[in-house]
Amino acid sequence: MLPLPKGAALVAALDFRRLPKVLLHEHLDGTLRPGTVAELAAEAGYAGLPTADPTELAAWFHRGAQRGNLPEYLEGFAHTIAVMQTPEALERVAWEFIEDMARDGVVYAEVRFAPVFHTAGGLTQDDVVAAVLAGLRRGGRDFGIEWGLILCAMRDRNDSLEAAELALRWRDEGVVGFDLAGGEAGHPPKRHLEAFHAIQRANFSITIHAGEAYGLESIWQALQWCGAHRLGHGTRLVDDMNEVDGEWRLGRLARYVLDQRVPIEMCLLSNVHTGACASVEEHPFGLFHRLGFRVFLNTDDRLMSDTEMSREIALATTAFDLGLDDIEQMTLSAMKSAFACHEKRVEMIHRRLLPTFALLSAELTARAFSGEFDSSL
Ligand code: ADE
Ligand code: ZN
Repeated sequence: MLPLPKGAALVAALDFRRLPKVLLHEHLDGTLRPGTVAELAAEAGYAGLPTADPTELAAWFHRGAQRGNLPEYLEGFAHTIAVMQTPEALERVAWEFIEDMARDGVVYAEVRFAPVFHTAGGLTQDDVVAAVLAGLRRGGRDFGIEWGLILCAMRDRNDSLEAAELALRWRDEGVVGFDLAGGEAGHPPKRHLEAFHAIQRANFSITIHAGEAYGLESIWQALQWCGAHRLGHGTRLVDDMNEVDGEWRLGRLARYVLDQRVPIEMCLLSNVHTGACASVEEHPFGLFHRLGFRVFLNTDDRLMSDTEMSREIALATTAFDLGLDDIEQMTLSAMKSAFACHEKRVEMIHRRLLPTFALLSAELTARAFSGEFDSSL
């Protein structure tokens, strides 16, 4: 068997948009196209944008998000949320999200948002969810993408139980789970126990932002107090791991996450932008993947972090010298961890993911036999 290209050589050899991808952590209000923000602002008469030029607007969002802390990273959302206050705007943003997924080669996507922020124009939270679901449903049909919607409660607010009840009301229409988002430091997940218990009692699914802007306590509370089935980010779990004589020793929390196969939704560029990590190269994703944690890559906020799935995977491939088999493994991990029903996950794995990875692997193998990669290996 000829060795296939890895790392930077793999990035050079393959258009990563061709990889079948699974995205489980993306915020609807962080995913807008700059041009759409400008158009919706003009339609709504919203004068708060610094510029109406989409290129300048994109650069402004990226600059604002790269100030090295989560509270400032989140400031840009005031503008995207301001232009998402009508059913038409919400449906458009959701539909365009699915179109963007198709362009990026994503075959299954879960997107999340907090409906409570979209009632300034007079909509009820149920109206808001209905509009987003309509856009996702139409996009899913138009582009052949499978999707799920996650509703967020905000950790600095007192209405998480209402958000949980809203998620449960829409569970048969495409809402697949419940999340806790927003500034992490000073807002422990344990304060929202009532909401999480309501979700648990209804046998529904929970993911929680934890270990992004706060440490192990937040991850521990998310898992052991609030019953999270997945972790959003989980980056600081690395604080419970120690290298001794070249061997990694795990503390009890990291050991639990590894042994129980707790899925970790990792986001490289967003973590660099919020200061959770100094650089992509220093991100613990590579270590977690090597040690067998159930980790996979996500975009978090494609607008603010100027990213897409193809880019996140290419960055990880270069930084951690990944091969196609690593990418396949993390993609299967993501699909197994999705909040879609078991039957859909199995179908996606067998109909969409495995056959496409097999084709790409065969293609790379044929090209390796032809000697194409001799100089790059
Ligand atoms: N909302 C949007 N992006 C977020 C992030 N990275 N952390 C918490 N809440 C968010
Ligand atoms: Zn997030």
